[in-house]
Amino acid sequence: MIKLHDLYFKPFISEEQIQSSVEKMVEEIASDLGDEMPVFVGILNGSFMFVSDFVKLYPKPCEVTFIKLASYEGVKSTEDIQRLIGLTQDLTGRTVVILEDIIDSGNTLEEVHRIFRNENVKELIIATLFYKPEAYKKDYKLHYVGMEIPNKFIVGYGLDYNGLGRDIPAVYQLKTTQHMTNLVLFGPPGAGKGTQANFLKEKYDLVHISTGDVFRYNIKNETALGMLAKSYMDKGELVPDQVTIDMLQKEVEKNADAKGFIFDGFPRTNAQAKSLDKLMESKDSQINAMVALEVEDEVLVGRLLERGKTSGRADDADESIIRNRIKEYYDKTAILKDYYSDQDKYFGVDGVGSIEEITVRLGAVIDNL
Ligand code: IMP
Ligand code: MG
Repeated sequence: MIKLHDLYFKPFISEEQIQSSVEKMVEEIASDLGDEMPVFVGILNGSFMFVSDFVKLYPKPCEVTFIKLASYEGVKSTEDIQRLIGLTQDLTGRTVVILEDIIDSGNTLEEVHRIFRNENVKELIIATLFYKPEAYKKDYKLHYVGMEIPNKFIVGYGLDYNGLGRDIPAVYQLKTTQHMTNLVLFGPPGAGKGTQANFLKEKYDLVHISTGDVFRYNIKNETALGMLAKSYMDKGELVPDQVTIDMLQKEVEKNADAKGFIFDGFPRTNAQAKSLDKLMESKDSQINAMVALEVEDEVLVGRLLERGKTSGRADDADESIIRNRIKEYYDKTAILKDYYSDQDKYFGVDGVGSIEEITVRLGAVIDNL
């Protein structure tokens, strides 16, 4: 992912894909033109990289020149396009091939046609590397198209967003979801996960998705997914990951404008972690970090026994049960720690200290993501 000015872009077309598209255009055009010596006319600024790669591959003698028209302001096509640097060369009787980086609305192309109307060229051929059929509003024939792409803003390979990105050799596409902070929150029982989740949610405007709560909600409200989950539970079977993921997806979609999510109680296995990655990817986003509160066993036992005195929770009263819950937590989460560590996304945070101190430590991690 890259950031240009205020926007995020994701990889879209690789250098190799671009190269093979350019090669294909060169072959077709060279074979169609035969022995005719063309004048290739690049439309600046965007086409400089395409023209350069194209003419390097062109197998026969040719001429190359450029014209420059006013380009895009930001991400919207400007209405009034002017001729900035015109043609100085006499093109009478010549076969002219316009090399465009991208054809979007077709406004630029219309201007090109207007400019060439008085040039008495033998033939005006239009070749564009990228073409957005859904955005094209004109009737001019496009003789050669490298790649048809969806109507989304792209940068790289000559194309810019407000001046940036032209130098990037591959093409990136504007992310429809902008930057989110998505956390997987972990902590052994007694680590203060609930308290800190509430704080994080407030401070970073995140949506807290606790899998336990999502399950209870779906079952209580008898949603289709809730009923499905219950049918497995009634048979004493584990609810398949896909059902859980589908529930989480609904939660994510309910909060489409969220600045990010805190996942709590999920994932528990490698397979679930992968499904969660896929879900986030389908939303043009990603898990940024697994944040785990780290507290020594002895401190946890002390805290839980203390809590047991007032909470009345049976599982907080018995030291051997407590120790077993803590052990189980480490057994189960070790694999996820590895999963996220391998991607440099594991952040252990010292969970011993005052609530405020721990909060500050968590903030330091998240502010750096
Ligand atoms: P038109 O809308 O076909 O006239 O395209 C006008 C110009 O807008 C192109 O020559 C590019 O400079 C620019 N443009 C169109 N779509 C994009 C894009 O997705 N990224 C960057 N520039 C674009
Ligand atoms: Mg252009």
